[in-house]
Amino acid sequence: MARFARTLLASICTVLFLWSGIVAGLTSTLQQVTNFGSNPTNAGMFVYKPTTVKTNPAVIVAIHYCGGSAQAYFTGSPYASLADTFGFIVIYPSSPPRSTTCWDVSSKATLTHNGGGDSNGIANMVAYAISTYKADASRIFVTGTSSGAMMTNVLVATYPELWRAASAYSGVAAGCFVSSSGAVDAWNSSCAQGQVSQTSAQWASVVRNMFPGYTGPYPPIQEYHGTADTTLFPNNLNEEIKEWSGIFGYNAGAPTQGYTKSIYGPNLQAISAQGVGHTVPIQGNEDMKWFGFVAGGAAPPPSTTTGISTTSPSMTTSTSTSAPATTTTTTPPSTGEAAHWDQCGGTGWTGATSCVAPFTCTALNPFFFQCL
Ligand SMILES: *[C@@H]1O[C@H](CO)[C@@H](O)[C@H](O)[C@H]1NC(C)=O
Repeated sequence: MARFARTLLASICTVLFLWSGIVAGLTSTLQQVTNFGSNPTNAGMFVYKPTTVKTNPAVIVAIHYCGGSAQAYFTGSPYASLADTFGFIVIYPSSPPRSTTCWDVSSKATLTHNGGGDSNGIANMVAYAISTYKADASRIFVTGTSSGAMMTNVLVATYPELWRAASAYSGVAAGCFVSSSGAVDAWNSSCAQGQVSQTSAQWASVVRNMFPGYTGPYPPIQEYHGTADTTLFPNNLNEEIKEWSGIFGYNAGAPTQGYTKSIYGPNLQAISAQGVGHTVPIQGNEDMKWFGFVAGGAAPPPSTTTGISTTSPSMTTSTSTSAPATTTTTTPPSTGEAAHWDQCGGTGWTGATSCVAPFTCTALNPFFFQCL
């Protein structure tokens, strides 16, 4: 009887322990890091390092919205919990003390590589994480919501060499929010209201001017946007598509409607969320696929593209979540065996169709097969 009681008590304690773990939810806590390096605008650096952190961990930089904070994004986004599962580190930058908690995506400083703006401070947080946590420099990701999504686009433009891939929830094209007077953290109504429209070539030069002389690759990016967004109007998704299509040499076109993904090429996907306002809820599981933590649609490694694609756009409309709307294959044909993450098949693919061991050529959709 006593043994039974002890066993029962142990079981109850186990259940309570697990239950409290679920309530607390996380294996570790959010910590502020001061003195992470040059911090020209006095942004905050907060880090979530799970107890289950891997050796040479990947890092996700998760950037909050206007009115938010590192703490709010820590509790209000899935990345800390996903970090417990996958063993990566999350950096939550916190915007500098200003009248709003928006990020500066309008000044010349922030829109320039090593220009001394907010983007520079965030890049230095990454450098700190690589040296202090021995993070894997080839697996640094960036994501954010609203103002954080604008900053994500800006960071891809100003620090393309840092990122393995990016995802942005309800932002605008890098440089769209620019202030004509150079003001820091300025609101740009014409951009917000979707009245700014530029060609792919114009946007590409906006991006390239943020890091003059850079000739390396730009990272793959996913852009989410709601069709009913009245804060950052839905046309901003079109401008983001044109911007990165210009960089990758893809054919831009309107994204399909529905909660559907339009694939412009391996490096650019746009997800238009039908009827969703500002902002699109974070799709943590989709981010884990895109960032390659789980199988099923990982971004390819950044690779140099050769310019505007000569294939004609093949945009079709789809309301299915499984059928991609379009793709143009611009990856140069390769010979031999494709490496891990490389494309290995799909409509129009003329490169290698077998993968180096131990990877398998996996059809992600009719247009894109990848070595996974
Ligand atoms: C808003 O941004 C556009 C570029 O996207 C720029 O042409 C315009 O001058 C900006 N407006 C203000 C008031 O700075």
